[in-house]
Amino acid sequence: MNARIMGTGWKLPVFQADNEFLSKLVDTSDEWITERTGIRSRHLARDETTASLAEGAAKEALARSGLKASDLDLLIVATITSDTDTPSTACRVQAGLGASKAVAFDINAACSGFLYAVHIAEAFIRSGIYKNALLVGAETLSRLVDWKDRSTCILFGDGAGAAVLTASEEGGILSQTIASNGAKWSTLSCMGRPNQNPLNPEKTAPGYLTMDGREIFSFAVKTVPVCVEETLEKAGVSKEEVKYFLLHQANQRIIQSVARRLAQPEEKFPMNLDQCGNTSAASLPILLAQLDRQGSLQRGDKLILSGFGAGLTWGACLIEW
Ligand code: UT7
Repeated sequence: MNARIMGTGWKLPVFQADNEFLSKLVDTSDEWITERTGIRSRHLARDETTASLAEGAAKEALARSGLKASDLDLLIVATITSDTDTPSTACRVQAGLGASKAVAFDINAACSGFLYAVHIAEAFIRSGIYKNALLVGAETLSRLVDWKDRSTCILFGDGAGAAVLTASEEGGILSQTIASNGAKWSTLSCMGRPNQNPLNPEKTAPGYLTMDGREIFSFAVKTVPVCVEETLEKAGVSKEEVKYFLLHQANQRIIQSVARRLAQPEEKFPMNLDQCGNTSAASLPILLAQLDRQGSLQRGDKLILSGFGAGLTWGACLIEW
């Protein structure tokens, strides 16, 4: 059995912070941010939470899939910004939907999280263990960034995207490549709260997200094209047969560089980072849902999804829509 996407959804916080807004908080400018990243604006959560955004995206994806909440066997939320350490965001979404039969859990693979969720769900569906899965990428990175650090706070945005996968005789996920390199964990990390254990107390303040931007940039432009080529080769599909390459929305220059390295026209690389910034695990499912809603995807179209991020983690999957 193949795993096919039957419905998509997304949810963004109401408040939009443009580059002018950020230039009042840190020493930056619209010109610098636009030139170096392509980002012009991002949505930031004020009243919204990771769980409420995830639930909003999930409800839309479910409604569009034609399935009921009670049909769901599996519910995975990919996030690094769960509102609660426990329970998982997935369990809170399960309660919001009334998906009482679903096995619900979160995964942490940063910006590659949605692809990791696809990897897990596809294995369950292909093996026949589960039939219907709801996958959500949801983040409120605004809670993790240091709003005094101009090198990171300008990059990220909040939001959620979701997709329903169901068992199908044809189409769906054709091939995948997923990888991790924990040796490079410190390239992009966020330490948790100080340890209050009396045997080993730490006096440090709670951590914010820290990143070696140049190293991540160079890792992404080298790794993503190789990963995409490998994924296409596994399915015997050529680059020319792919309608769209959906890449993690981190930086316009990364996407342009990958397009050049794959020798494919930039028009095949849709982007929403100008309005959403980098929404980590939510970035790919938001972009997919927006393309779906624009009517840009027809049954039979071949799409590549590819992401990279903290861990380090990366991956790609080839979908027949
Ligand atoms: O999901 C994965 C998450 N992370 C990424 O994808 C990040 C990938 N990396 C990047 O996107 C880029 O490396 C950045 C956008 C983060 C930075 O762009 P860059 O072209 O690599 O700039 P840089 O770090 O080399 O900094 C160049 C200059 C520095 O000043 P000096 O040392 O040349 O005087 C920075 O201090 O730009 C300065 N700078 C800024 N200036 C204005 C750094 N951030 C800003 C800022 N506004 N926001």
